[in-house]
Amino acid sequence: MIPESSPFRPGQPVPIEFFIGRYREIERLRSMVNASTQGRFKIGFVSGERGIGKSSLAAFVRRLVETDNEVAGCHVFLGGVQNLSEMLNRILHILLNESTEKPWHHKLLDFFGDRVSKVGLFGVTLELSLSESDMLSMERNFVQSIRQLIQGLREHKKSLFLILDDINGLAGAEGFANWLKSTVDEIATSQQDMHLCILVVGFEERRQELIASQISLARVFELIDIAPWSDDEVREFYQSSFDVGRAEVTDEEIERLVTFTGGLPVLAHEIGDAVWRTARTAKIDDNEITEGISIAAEVIGSKLLTPQIFSAIRSESYRSILLKMADRPRPHFKRSEIMELLEGTEKKRLDNFLRRMTDLGALQKDAQGPGRYRFPNLLHALYFWMESQRTQHRQ
Ligand SMILES: Nc1ncnc2c1ncn2[C@@H]1O[C@H](COP(=O)(O)OP(=O)(O)OP(=O)(O)O)[C@@H](O)[C@H]1O
Ligand SMILES: [Mg+2]
Repeated sequence: MIPESSPFRPGQPVPIEFFIGRYREIERLRSMVNASTQGRFKIGFVSGERGIGKSSLAAFVRRLVETDNEVAGCHVFLGGVQNLSEMLNRILHILLNESTEKPWHHKLLDFFGDRVSKVGLFGVTLELSLSESDMLSMERNFVQSIRQLIQGLREHKKSLFLILDDINGLAGAEGFANWLKSTVDEIATSQQDMHLCILVVGFEERRQELIASQISLARVFELIDIAPWSDDEVREFYQSSFDVGRAEVTDEEIERLVTFTGGLPVLAHEIGDAVWRTARTAKIDDNEITEGISIAAEVIGSKLLTPQIFSAIRSESYRSILLKMADRPRPHFKRSEIMELLEGTEKKRLDNFLRRMTDLGALQKDAQGPGRYRFPNLLHALYFWMESQRTQHRQ
């Protein structure tokens, strides 16, 4: 069916009407933001695996609180940002440019004064030219500056919901951890209201990294850990998406899709989209589902894995091992368990395979004991499995 009419959105933020589940997390985040509208400062950490829906959840809650709770939202992606001043610059730039249509925009312009200029062909982008000393003072007096800025918005908005997403580059930076901690401490000891809710978004490993740099951060964050979707949620996702696209899929076919998705939203969109593209008519049949899953494995491998892992998994010499090893999704396994499944030359190649995959980061040695391995995340585990199904299907 034509790709343009696909109800799936691989690689894109999900539109609000297609958002599935996460009720508890939404409520927790909403209550944090609500507390901030009453002057109580809140800081949370949304953690979860790659592609599980962290950014989507943060974006969804932002839209909710912007409409229902009179809150100003600012979602900053910090991918590639390595230091504090770059981070602050990006926050301010986004605040400024995303608010152009909002009634409080002029307050921001007042706040920044002649440091703002219009750039771009039609003068549509606002550029902030902050001097080094501006930046230094912003870094040192962040709490005061942000308080002043929020004060300016309060005529129209009750608080600021600041989402610091993709903190991967920053989490290891000691400066960031210390800055976060001193910001929290300063707000806590100031005994003044602070209409601010900060949400840090990243992998759990990043949170651990932050804690390793600044031990007392451990007790600072309210933790919101996102789990994979339940099977019911995945069913709901496929059913409602195919309904919107007016396509017919049987319950058994939905069950197959649910199994392959493993609760990972990023896979749900890729698999759904591949099935959609494969289907010739709105009545999707079993073969088209099989073909769609196989194409999705290809797309996922090239899009979401490193090229080295992708090509290693696809190499002839590992193909038969993979086929036997991934007879079902296994988040972790023992070397001996796999060895039993193999024959002849495959047995000889197993150690080589495990070493190569471990070197590439597609597998990790499990701390549970020698000869035990695990996938670094659900994405890799599910991908191995899909790839093995694909190989089987092609034989
Ligand atoms: N609750 C949801 N309902 C429907 N689709 C979702 C939901 N959550 C995530 N998705 C979809 O899954 C994909 C991955 O989501 P998202 O980018 O939010 O994950 P992430 O955890 O932020 O990933 P990363 O770790 O790569 O930053 C996107 O295409 C998004 O549209
Ligand atoms: Mg994200």
